[in-house]
Amino acid sequence: MNEVIRALRARKSVREFEERAVEAEKREAILVSATEAPTAGNQQLYTILDVTDEAKKARLAELCDHQPFIAKAPMVLIFLADVQKWYDALVLAGAEPRRPGAGDLLLAVSDALIAAQNAVVAAESLGLGSCYIGDVTEEYEAMRDLLDLPEYVFPAAMLVIGYPTPSQIARKKPVRERMCHIVQENAYRRRGEEELSEMFLQNHPGKDWGEHLRAFCRRKYNADFAREMTRSVECYFSHFRFGEDGK
Ligand SMILES: Cc1cc2nc3c(=O)[nH]c(=O)nc-3n(C[C@H](O)[C@H](O)[C@H](O)COP(=O)(O)O)c2cc1C
Repeated sequence: MNEVIRALRARKSVREFEERAVEAEKREAILVSATEAPTAGNQQLYTILDVTDEAKKARLAELCDHQPFIAKAPMVLIFLADVQKWYDALVLAGAEPRRPGAGDLLLAVSDALIAAQNAVVAAESLGLGSCYIGDVTEEYEAMRDLLDLPEYVFPAAMLVIGYPTPSQIARKKPVRERMCHIVQENAYRRRGEEELSEMFLQNHPGKDWGEHLRAFCRRKYNADFAREMTRSVECYFSHFRFGEDGK
């Protein structure tokens, strides 16, 4: 196994950081690595917010489903799906662009996430830990006001980065599904109860499958934060003016 694959297999999320700043050259290396990621049409349909304001970090920790470790992270990056900058440039250039549509937004979200993952891998290679914060897609209206987001910009991902504490280094990485449950050949095959119960119980031996799934549903799938995520994204979509000319 080569060094890159070993690192990818060992990487796990870090949620507790040493009280130690990330050096300027490491910050720079992480940001540059993010921007070297593949990007649709080389358009870089994202903007990265490097959040250094402590008050903003504290507010983000609250808005992102009350996760206090966000406020304590030495480095907080928000990857904004940014359809605005190209649209503005095209308008200013007199190119008569159509209004941005759902496809443009999806492409920008893909671009932003791929850049974020490059940042994760770069951070890992520099001895830094990281954690995605999916809750950045919640509370759209408050996020928009906090970060001054215009109409065609949406927070796609957030990363917290810093030096891991010893307990985080010692923490066991959660086990992934077996490959046979993840990779299928040529066409999608819908899974039946036998395969689903085997898949989702593999890391919880001895548990009752129904009980385990019902508890997961209460804790995660039906949880307030999951409902808020959908409300927030729908709110954004409802005022994102889709269509050829916006009329
Ligand atoms: C899109 C996405 C959103 C996530 N959001 C959160 C989050 O809000 N809070 C958190 O503590 N971890 C979050 N995580 C981290 C996952 O919980 C973690 O990746 C998963 O449990 C697997 O653990 P590992 O990364 O240590 O292997 C998120 C990960 C992803 C990819």
